[in-house]
Amino acid sequence: MNLLKKGAEADIYLTKWSNLPSILKIRKTKPYRNSVLDTKIRKQRTIKESQTISEVKSFGIPTPLVYFVNLTNSSILMQEIPGIPVHDLPDLKIIKLSKEIGRLVGIMHKNGIMHGDLTTSNFILYKNKVYVIDFGLSQKTIKSEDHAVDLRLIKEILNSAHAKIMESAWKNFISGYKSVVGTITYSKIMHSVSDIESRGRYATVI
Ligand SMILES: Nc1ncnc2c1ncn2[C@@H]1O[C@H](COP(=O)(O)OP(=O)(O)O)[C@@H](O)[C@H]1O
Ligand SMILES: [Mg+2]
Repeated sequence: MNLLKKGAEADIYLTKWSNLPSILKIRKTKPYRNSVLDTKIRKQRTIKESQTISEVKSFGIPTPLVYFVNLTNSSILMQEIPGIPVHDLPDLKIIKLSKEIGRLVGIMHKNGIMHGDLTTSNFILYKNKVYVIDFGLSQKTIKSEDHAVDLRLIKEILNSAHAKIMESAWKNFISGYKSVVGTITYSKIMHSVSDIESRGRYATVI
């Protein structure tokens, strides 16, 4: 078993399951958390992640197959998507894929799912298809305020991690998103996005 990534929340191992390359995601204990609460959080996120990964497949969102879930150590064994995280792709490719990412997020929202951690590292390009991963913070919600939180986060990520291409990538993201949710829903959500921005660190300090 090879340690692939040490994340803030989980360790990611590359392993084999019946000869298939698989990913083992183990949520780690956070020593600063109360241990009862820590076990509960890790368990909850593991359940949530494995459920949502499978649920969104039915709307046509490409996600890894879940092979096993072990709640004793909060781990998920899933299909490896041997592609490249969108975060690591060349700028022009990211701009182009932003429309598809917007479309995928639109499909999730339309079906009442908020992803909860929309970063460009949570989309993997494999064989010309964009896969979505990392559903531990996902929620079932149809509230436009919640959907706006998703958009606000991806916008912030584009702004910080992909500053040079932010404008064109965001424009494409929005166009893909709007094509799925429709103009009326889109306007409502963008209102919420502006609301969040005006309440946040963009608010005028008097
Ligand atoms: N099924 C998978 N196939 C390929 N790579 C994966 C898979 N799951 C996770 N990874 C890799 O591990 C990284 C971290 O996994 P992720 O589920 O996003 O956990 P974290 O909560 O630490 O962000 C991802 O950005 C991706 O590079
Ligand atoms: Mg992630």
